[in-house]
Amino acid sequence: MAEAVCAICGGTGWRVVEREGLSAAERCQCALEERTAILQERCQVPALYQSASLDNFLLPQDNPTAYRALGSVLTTVRAYAREFPGLEKPGLLLIGEPGTGKTHLAVAALRILIAKGFEGVFWDYQNLLDRIRAGYDPNSGSSDREAYRTALDVEVLLLDDLGAHRVTEWVEDTVTSIITYRCNHRRALIATTNLADPDTGGGVTERTPAGVQVRTLLAERIGARARSRLFEMCKVVRMPAVEDYRVRRGRH
Ligand SMILES: Nc1ncnc2c1ncn2[C@@H]1O[C@H](COP(=O)(O)OP(=O)(O)O)[C@@H](O)[C@H]1O
Ligand SMILES: [Mg+2]
Ligand SMILES: [Zn+2]
Repeated sequence: MAEAVCAICGGTGWRVVEREGLSAAERCQCALEERTAILQERCQVPALYQSASLDNFLLPQDNPTAYRALGSVLTTVRAYAREFPGLEKPGLLLIGEPGTGKTHLAVAALRILIAKGFEGVFWDYQNLLDRIRAGYDPNSGSSDREAYRTALDVEVLLLDDLGAHRVTEWVEDTVTSIITYRCNHRRALIATTNLADPDTGGGVTERTPAGVQVRTLLAERIGARARSRLFEMCKVVRMPAVEDYRVRRGRH
């Protein structure tokens, strides 16, 4: 069966518009929709989050405090996605414990920006660093070599689980260069992390071999400079202490 040809532009992707007596060519809606569909396919969101959206982000009905707190996070993320790109800070940083829905919300926001026509890519932090490192190997494939370029240049970068990596000087330098570059060029960054920060509190408690409980700070993992630029360029959202969604769902 032949594909339906657009009735507005006849399949050219362009339509003629009259403005103040002059004719001009403008992209047809069908071409914009096609671009969005291609971008949605290329955004590398993992299968588990394929259908994550703001509409299917549920608030805990049995806990009024958590309901209000998570509802306010949802409102902030919705406003970020709606107002983008007309925002003072082009980024969004979600900080909180595992299972509170950070990646779900980050993907939902990414999808909305893509639907607006922006190019967006999902990168798991650790995976991105591995790919960038592999790119330095002369035998590596071109996709590895492109990972760093993408992280710098893509219109919207989603960095999931920021700081979930052992620290080396190389990691710190690489993250700092990505964040600084994006910040200087006002490129959007949506990031999630479960590390603690003095300005927002929280963070996952880890036990050292000696049995002492410590909270790892974001700045310890990505360096103070990257941390500072991140806060400068992002709307920072602290996830409330809600029960791990995977546990919550298992009970009902
Ligand atoms: N409030 C929520 N409503 C619906 N699904 C949720 C909610 N919070 C988390 N989830 C789902 O639970 C799983 C874990 O959430 P995730 O976003 O990965 O948490 P985090 O990134 O904070 O560790 C995902 O499958 C996610 O879609
Ligand atoms: Mg996550
Ligand atoms: Zn058309």
